[in-house]
Amino acid sequence: MPDLTTSIGNTTFQNPVFVASGTFGYGLENPDLVDVSKFGAIVTKSITRHPREGNPPPRIVETPSGMINSIGLANIGVEKYVREMVPNYEKIGVPIIMNIAGSVEEEYCEILDIVESVSSNIVGYEINISCPNVKEGGIEFGVDPLLTEALTSALRKRTEKLLILKLSPNVTDIRVIANAAVNGGADSVSAINTVYGMSIDSMARKSEIYTTYGGLSGPAIKPIGLACVHKVFNAVDCPIIGIGGITDSADAIEYLLAGASAIQVGTANYRNPAAGLSIVEGMESYCSKHKISHITDLIGKVKTHE
Ligand SMILES: Cc1cc2nc3c(=O)[nH]c(=O)nc-3n(C[C@H](O)[C@H](O)[C@H](O)COP(=O)(O)O)c2cc1C
Repeated sequence: MPDLTTSIGNTTFQNPVFVASGTFGYGLENPDLVDVSKFGAIVTKSITRHPREGNPPPRIVETPSGMINSIGLANIGVEKYVREMVPNYEKIGVPIIMNIAGSVEEEYCEILDIVESVSSNIVGYEINISCPNVKEGGIEFGVDPLLTEALTSALRKRTEKLLILKLSPNVTDIRVIANAAVNGGADSVSAINTVYGMSIDSMARKSEIYTTYGGLSGPAIKPIGLACVHKVFNAVDCPIIGIGGITDSADAIEYLLAGASAIQVGTANYRNPAAGLSIVEGMESYCSKHKISHITDLIGKVKTHE
């Protein structure tokens, strides 16, 4: 039986298949649909300081090979999250990574302080930096290395748990932002969040998403995610969690070969919430077939033509 365990920072996961933020709720919604204890980890949807309704509809549209969303971080806010969700995590037997979003650095810090003040089996935090910083005139944290490093180091001071910075592909050079996260003390980076996109109804001559632009996800973005992971792997010394367009085990293996130590499945959960479990099985078969004793032997092993 191949060994599928993988480590990010000082945390070891039973396998490298996680479910991605925003596509699996708070982790507690699907107990009858899928045995969540078989995932490597669940990443929660982004939690903010206060509850948010999110953007008005329409906020999801299907596109060829993917979807565009503009949910706008709809969530119950950290206080209700700590009260109503966190105590239930002990029952489901899978590591939880809480995803955090904010609009100023202090907000991220406050959320982290609130969660850290209660005992929980949350193993780490994934920081969504694709959020406009209101103090800096709406520039996203994740497009600016100085903002990214400052935010990371403020959070690093507050927790010893896994700190993962989730990178946006909507930047000139993702390696610069990854490097800033690591300089600030991140254990890991995850890549990628969604890619800016737009969809137009030609008959109505209208944008299909209320906010005009949204985030493209699904198979259409897999090549972008792979390139981002490979670039970061070759430039920055930290474990990477690969995300973007993963629907089956072949996609997941490609991400490991590009340099990912673990992967997240997002949009594919909408078609099949158990997609991640098929990926775990497919990884096992791949390793057996190719006589790979440990899945981590594949990390970064893609051959290039250079
Ligand atoms: C409907 C939807 C909601 C999402 N919400 C969040 C979120 O709250 N926080 C976050 O960091 N990423 C969010 N994401 C981004 C995903 O976690 C993931 O990075 C992205 O969709 C790419 O992976 P995929 O192609 O497998 O979906 C969301 C994606 C979708 C499709």
